[in-house]
Amino acid sequence: MKFFVDTADIDAIGKLNDLGFVDGVTTNPSLILKSGRDIMEVTEEICNMVDGPVSAEVVAHETDAMVAEGRRLTKIAPNITVKIPLTWDGLKACRTLSDEGNMVNVTLCFSAGQALLAAKAGATFISPFIGRLDDINLDGLELIEDIRKIYDTYGFRTEILAASVRTVNHVSECARIGADVVTAPPNVLQNLAKHPLTDKGLAAFMADWEKTGQKII
Ligand code: G3P
Repeated sequence: MKFFVDTADIDAIGKLNDLGFVDGVTTNPSLILKSGRDIMEVTEEICNMVDGPVSAEVVAHETDAMVAEGRRLTKIAPNITVKIPLTWDGLKACRTLSDEGNMVNVTLCFSAGQALLAAKAGATFISPFIGRLDDINLDGLELIEDIRKIYDTYGFRTEILAASVRTVNHVSECARIGADVVTAPPNVLQNLAKHPLTDKGLAAFMADWEKTGQKII
């Protein structure tokens, strides 16, 4: 399973990238706002840091304008993935940009039917939003399972990019279910390393080591 980082924070991407953990990056208008940066500048910087796909989102609502914005974004770097919302106009834009050979990430997916349409429209990635479904007492992980089953049944090659990931449980469950990619905020990826029994075990080992009076170096 691939790890994408869901942020436009250059420093945070750099820290994870140094460990070789970053298979790609996803951004959206809210994350651009949070970064305080110009979309073109920050996206270009991210593309220079990361080899994998970097999603940059269009903000137009109508197909032709979405396609124009998408073409503009693809000029930033070869690893740009055009991120397009799952609307009827968005699906048409996805078809056009995908037929032109661009990677497209169809975002704001909340149902299996929407995911089916995105695959039919040639999406490279579909982004189901787990956390926002959980927020309204629906089951985000169940949606990932449903899409996995549908895509496997019919051989769709669109990759399932689990988004709106809030917890380490979301990440491990997505891995178990078979999501192709998880995009998560940097802190969630870092929290994957944490376990209270690891801390407790390490403290006990260090206490015993002190008692030996030995040194390795
Ligand atoms: O990848 C989509 C993500 O940025 C949305 O996350 O936590 O705002 O639902 P959230």
